[in-house]
Amino acid sequence: MRFVGEKIDASMEEFLKPIETNWQPTDFLPDTTKETFLEEVKLLRESTRELSYDYVAVLVGDTITEEALPTYESWLMDMEGVTQGDPHGWTRWIRSWTAEENRHGDLLNKFLYLSGRVNMRAMEVSTQYLIADGFDIGTGRDPYRNFIYTSFQELATNVSHRRTATLAKQAGCTQLSKICGVIASDEMRHAKAYKSFVSQILEVDPSEMVLAFEDMMRKKIVMPAHFLRETGVKIGQTFSHFSDAAQRLGVYTTQDYIDIAESLLVDWNIGAITDLNDAGQRARDYLMALPTRLRRVAERTKVPTLEYPFSWIAS
Ligand SMILES: [Fe+2]
Ligand SMILES: [Fe+2]
Repeated sequence: MRFVGEKIDASMEEFLKPIETNWQPTDFLPDTTKETFLEEVKLLRESTRELSYDYVAVLVGDTITEEALPTYESWLMDMEGVTQGDPHGWTRWIRSWTAEENRHGDLLNKFLYLSGRVNMRAMEVSTQYLIADGFDIGTGRDPYRNFIYTSFQELATNVSHRRTATLAKQAGCTQLSKICGVIASDEMRHAKAYKSFVSQILEVDPSEMVLAFEDMMRKKIVMPAHFLRETGVKIGQTFSHFSDAAQRLGVYTTQDYIDIAESLLVDWNIGAITDLNDAGQRARDYLMALPTRLRRVAERTKVPTLEYPFSWIAS
């Protein structure tokens, strides 16, 4: 962590944007100070009419996932090698990353509120539950496992926001398409940052880094909202309905999971790493064979067609 942390200023420069020129949620929403506000809201509401039931549910789930940011920040702050009292290094990275991420939930939440398509109270209850319930993602306090997880997750959110952008455009909702698009591009910048941390660690500690990668893939990368729930619904059940809806829409699928794993193997050049101890070599071989194995399993799994009535959708 000290080794990667020494270059954190350069990483921040490369992967985060200066606050003053960065986009803010308001840039993509009707301006409340303008006379035209109500008219703009009316247009916004009309534009969301063609969005499907599953689509709105998935967008709500995505928003809640973003809104559970306190969980992610406190988890990162607790990583080994991070000293909260130290205003430099890792603390600065985590705070600045959180500050960028905070705009995502903020923007999506405001858009959904204005759309009239969502039972906001039910959504807010789910958000409060998710933050209160936290998550259990199997990384512990280990930075290696953390950075595998964040690399994977930033890519997964890039994919899902990119797909919701495309679907919004197809439904004639250009503003929402822009919103999901700018969020997706933030996620890609963040993915590049976390991937670069892993690359740097691979240079100095390849065996342990590859073992951490193997461990995370064996456990499977669980989504940060896996504890998602609604009033009266058991923990985790809402999440599985949400993820079924995302599969049905093609917003985030098993195929995407495999593609992301494979892209990480390529980007980190895992197959070509030679200076590994015995355990590291076995881990590398396991990882390299993984995409093919997962594809075989994926061929056999079917996407449930069951339509589930989410409490989040306004009737
Ligand atoms: Fe985000
Ligand atoms: Fe993110």
